[in-house]
Amino acid sequence: MKGMEKVIVIVSALFLSGLVGFLVFSTFGLGIRLPGCLTTAKAFEKGSVIQRSDNVYEVHMVAKMWAFDPPEIKVKANTTLEIYLASLDVTHGFQIENTNVNLMAVPGAINYGRVTLREPGIYHVICHEYCGAGHQNMTAKIIVGDEIDLPVALAEHSAPTPESGSVTAGKALFQSKGCVACHSPEGNPGVGPNFKSLFGRKEKLSDGSVITVDENYLTESMKEPSAKIVNGFQALMPKLSLTDEEIKQINAYIKTL
Ligand code: CUA
Repeated sequence: MKGMEKVIVIVSALFLSGLVGFLVFSTFGLGIRLPGCLTTAKAFEKGSVIQRSDNVYEVHMVAKMWAFDPPEIKVKANTTLEIYLASLDVTHGFQIENTNVNLMAVPGAINYGRVTLREPGIYHVICHEYCGAGHQNMTAKIIVGDEIDLPVALAEHSAPTPESGSVTAGKALFQSKGCVACHSPEGNPGVGPNFKSLFGRKEKLSDGSVITVDENYLTESMKEPSAKIVNGFQALMPKLSLTDEEIKQINAYIKTL
């Protein structure tokens, strides 16, 4: 029995020293290294946008508490973004609204996503993984297209300064006169047509004709609600007692939606 134990000890020791010897040999003799932390690779320490061809950009996106670097990317329409995503601290999310890009930024790893942005507009990027106190403010944006290409609705906060007084008044009337009960400014379905992006919208009427929503149509709808009924809705809107000035203010507000 004693002899048997000795043999086992010796064989185990041989195996162990063989293993250690092989590790030493592979590291120093063959130069094989275990992979280190990828984010320590210089290329991914800082955010950057690198043009690869006419319409392909490589984006090195770095997530950290609580911001994205770069926070804003500007490209023209029909651009493909190849996104390499890294985190410098904890796990973050990376989602580009209205696209199928939904990645995790994981410390020590690079994650990859690819998207072609065809339509001009502002694509908001959000962190969708809870990452601490500043999580809900962790955003970035991708601006696609020249400023002039942007549809009015997307030209973000395009300062309605000259009319801001009447916009505020119109918004207050929209609430106090009860418009909001039937017409959703957020675009939700309701008893009446929703008012999200209403101005300039094409509406099909109950008689089959199609009109473009403009100031005249809105004014008429407030003065004579049953004059034109949008297809699929009923003539339920009451006549409102509004002055011409108030109608102007409500129109000013509707234009901002
Ligand atoms: Cu970063 Cu949530």
